[in-house]
Order: sequence, then C-alpha cells, then structure tokens
Amino acid sequence: MLIAQITDLHLGFTPGNPREMNQIRLEKTIAAIRALDVAPDLVLATGDLADRGEPEAYARLKAALAQLPCPAFTCPGNHDDRANYLAAFPLPDAPDGFVQYVIEGYPVRVIVLDTLEPGRHGGGYCEARKAWLQARLDEAPDRPTLIALHHPPIDTGIAWMGAVPGEAWAGRLAAAISGRPNVLAAVSGHMHRGISALWADTLLVVSPPVAPDLALTLRDIDPEQPDGRAMIELVPPAFALHQWCDGRIISHFESVSDRKVLARFDDKLQPLVRHLAHEREEG
Ligand SMILES: [Fe+2]
Repeated sequence: MLIAQITDLHLGFTPGNPREMNQIRLEKTIAAIRALDVAPDLVLATGDLADRGEPEAYARLKAALAQLPCPAFTCPGNHDDRANYLAAFPLPDAPDGFVQYVIEGYPVRVIVLDTLEPGRHGGGYCEARKAWLQARLDEAPDRPTLIALHHPPIDTGIAWMGAVPGEAWAGRLAAAISGRPNVLAAVSGHMHRGISALWADTLLVVSPPVAPDLALTLRDIDPEQPDGRAMIELVPPAFALHQWCDGRIISHFESVSDRKVLARFDDKLQPLVRHLAHEREEG
C-alpha cells in the first residue's frame, strides 16, 4: 500500500488571485503524484489547506484533488476554518463536531485526527477527541494503523514553532497512542520541513510542505530581539510517500523540481543492477 501525503498548501495566501503561487505549487505537486511510476492508493492532505480558511480556497482545493488518480482525504490545520472546511468537505458523523474519521478498506487502517484549536497556531487535543481516538484504537487493536494529523506533538528543535515539551494536548495524544504496536506511524505537517522522530512508541514523520519552507534554524530565539535570521525560504514544493512494506512504514520525501537524469537503467548501468540483485538473492 502506498500513501502520498501533501501538507500545508496555504491556498488563498494571496487573496483574490486564483493563480497565486501556492495554487501553482499545488498543481505541480499533483502533477508529480500523477507521474509517479507506482500510483498511490490514496492521498492524505494534512491541514493548512487554506491560508485564511475561505470557501473559495476550499473550492479550488476540491477541484485540484479531483485531478488525483486515487481518493484524497483531508484534515484541518491551524490556518483552516473548521466550519468552512466542513461545508466543503462534509463529514456526516463528525464526532462532537471535530474532523475525526477512519479510512477503511485498505491494508492499513488510517485514523485522521483534528488538532485545530481556533485562536492558536499550535495544536489542541481535548478529552473528547482523545476519548474518540481511544475508542477507535480499542476496536481494532491488531490492524496495522496509521495516524494522520496536522500538528506534530513534539518539540522539533525549531524554537519558534512546534510544541513545547509538556503541553497538555500533546500529552493527551501520546497517552492515547503509546503502547500500541499496531500503530505503525503518525504523519503530520505544520513544520514546513521534513522531520522524523520517535514519539509515543511509534514513528512520527513530518512531511515537507507544498507551500514554501521554514528555514532550518535551531538557535534559540528571543521574541523581543529580531535578529534578522532567515525564517521562510522559497524552495520547490514537496510531498511525502509512505509505503507499507514488510509490516512497517517507509517514508520518502520528494521535491517537485526540474531534474536532470544523470544515469539511466541501460546497458552501462546493467552490470551494477545485476550485481546488486545477485547480492540480494544471496542475502
Ligand atoms: Fe502551515
């Protein structure tokens, strides 16, 4: 099973311009997913779908997702407006009004979570959401399971973003997920960078964004002292590809950019490919 993940699209960043940069970046990303040599079974879009939560941005997103060769599933991030999101992506049984649901019908069960807390950039996860998640996990303890959410519930080392150690919402999420070996991974966005870490006894993978990146700044930051460091950088859009293989999740990050092929599988490279195949056979 192959899952493509796109995140942090921020459609509507340039209000009133339906051909804005982020729209073009999304279209390029979808074209790259369509061009993969193995088609994904599904696509997850993990939040910050719209920059300001406007209906027009969600309408553009729906049109773009319709170009994918497989079903697409979405969840909101801190930039999204839950009501406008739900108007565009209705969820008939939204538990307690939250965008939480289970994707069934594939070898890996996917549980989609809602970490949006209106008014906060950072995540939120209340007792009601936690109770729903625990119930979903309890009902299928042996099924391989992937968690999809917007906010990574960890301190990523980028001091001005991400969760602070000990935040209560992150603790609630970790308590629901820890100690469940069937949870193969949790995939998130929000950090506008590709990151991985161990968390809650599972693998946490943060996908790079469709919109521009956060700069890699690991120095402490003083909110009162602007020091001129780079914060946001223009690099090509990217997506993640999560492959379920031999009982584990293997994640790839792919940058959507023009490439120059330096070597092809032709008679020049065939000896190396043959040699490696022989090595694998011998074990
Ligand atoms: Fe974002």
